[in-house]
Amino acid sequence: MNETLNMLFRHRIIPTVVIDDVSKAIPLTDALVAGRLPVVEVTLRTADSLAALERIIDRRDMLVGVGTVTTLAQFDAAWRLGARFVVTPGFDDNILRHGNRRDILVIPGAVTPTEIMQAQNMGVSLVKYFPSESFGGLRAIEALSGPFPKMRFFPTGGINQDNLRPYLENRSVFACGGTWMAKREWVKDGAWDKIQKACAEAVEVVRSVV
Ligand code: 3PG
Repeated sequence: MNETLNMLFRHRIIPTVVIDDVSKAIPLTDALVAGRLPVVEVTLRTADSLAALERIIDRRDMLVGVGTVTTLAQFDAAWRLGARFVVTPGFDDNILRHGNRRDILVIPGAVTPTEIMQAQNMGVSLVKYFPSESFGGLRAIEALSGPFPKMRFFPTGGINQDNLRPYLENRSVFACGGTWMAKREWVKDGAWDKIQKACAEAVEVVRSVV
């Protein structure tokens, strides 16, 4: 689990992908790797998403996690396939406990002080902050860091190449996620060059803030 955390922290950006067609899974990961970003959060939002996850997990050169996990059944399906981390959009203590039993990193969603307290009291030190820009973005994260100085945030939602840098410069921000590096329509259209370019540009921002 710590190794996964360290790897995520090294990347500091995690493409969130929505895959409508399983045949796009491998070319998509090729584009991410070519953009020097061998990490992905496959969201369980489409009929093909688990099949896509299965194909991507077969690749040993990627750190592969799963997102939009809202049920224990989805959690188990992803865990069985070998997902390295699980992201939930909201806070669910059942899923969190289940994840602890399975010894896999779970990053639960938490945006309010109440949810962050719940997470913290269950031993969580990293929460997904979603949808970040709608919930106050970096200003809100800075305010929340007052009462929760040890909590680290993984903001997603409304992050893009233009607002990425200040997020990454903030010490409470562990990593940022989002679809801007591999937009759903780019994946649908097979616009692999666009994905590779967007990843490479995002990686340049990470390198410049480290
Ligand atoms: C997520 O699940 O984290 C979001 O859908 C990502 O939001 P974005 O599309 O605004 O990047």
